[in-house]
Amino acid sequence: MTGVADELADLRAKGLDRIAAAATIDELRAAEAELWGRKSQLATVQRSIGGLDPDARKARGQQINEARQRLLAVADARRAELEEIERQARLQAERMDLTEVVPPPRPQRGHYNLVNQARDELEDVFVAMGFVVEEGPIVETDWNNFEALNIPKAHPARSGFDTLYLNLGEPESVLIRPHTSPVQIRVMQRQKPPIYAVMPGRVYRKDTPDARHNPDFTQIEGLVVDRGITFGDLAGTVEAFTIAYFGPDIHSRLRPASFPFTEPSAEYEITCPICRGSGCRTCSGTGWIELGGCGMVHPNVFRAVGIDPEEFTGFAFGFGVDRLAQVRNTISDMRMIFDNDIRFLRQF
Ligand code: PHE
Repeated sequence: MTGVADELADLRAKGLDRIAAAATIDELRAAEAELWGRKSQLATVQRSIGGLDPDARKARGQQINEARQRLLAVADARRAELEEIERQARLQAERMDLTEVVPPPRPQRGHYNLVNQARDELEDVFVAMGFVVEEGPIVETDWNNFEALNIPKAHPARSGFDTLYLNLGEPESVLIRPHTSPVQIRVMQRQKPPIYAVMPGRVYRKDTPDARHNPDFTQIEGLVVDRGITFGDLAGTVEAFTIAYFGPDIHSRLRPASFPFTEPSAEYEITCPICRGSGCRTCSGTGWIELGGCGMVHPNVFRAVGIDPEEFTGFAFGFGVDRLAQVRNTISDMRMIFDNDIRFLRQF
């Protein structure tokens, strides 16, 4: 009798070791078959008690059963562990990270072009001043781009803004936008004053590329509409912006100008940081660099979008982001930003 008890104890101890050693579900399954399958030692012991008298058989049967239950429970726990390990391994193997497709050593990653870096920074400056960021489409209607901005058909201001018309709807009713000012119209149609918004985006002109021009560039438009807004608010905002973006050493000036959608209008200029005002190729010898236009929103623009010009006033501006970036980084020729010479681009 003790022989059987010892055998059971031994079987149990070995079985526990065997289960613990199973490193995969398959190994565990093999161990289970061996431990309590039909050809197992346990089955043999079970069969051997068949000849015992009923009481002894019952006692032995109980011991055998206990051993089996214990092994089953430990095997179940081990199975749960192994399933989790295998699940983790599968997840790891099936993970898809496209940035990992290229094995190391990886090529150097690129970064935002200088112009997009500048756009993000400009947004941050204006958001800090309480503006929200809005966007509009590159393909615009004649109405948003011209009519609502107080530029009727045959107005001479149209010629400077002539880009490409698209073959959509009425002839010459849809074009690639030459400025971000149509986004002002979209914002005012969508939202009642007070409005404090900046609107960055790509624009297109029939400009010939030179040190300060490119036919495809980025603008950031600004629009403020509220009660009692004055030209002083415009000048103060532009000044605060200049200091925030260029630092305290750069000065700004507003020069009288003319835009159909603002009255009065001004050109926004800053000291040329390349020659510090003495005159160079980049500033065409003037010592100043023009960065955009601005002015008080024309009453006709308010009327076009259903805002009462007696109740509200406002100002707008449109700055060239490429030129802002060029000037702040003292890049003598804007075309270098788009030449895709990585020796140049990597500096930023
Ligand atoms: N839209 C003008 C341009 O692109 C700039 C501007 C915007 C002027 C807003 C006044 C007010 O030249």
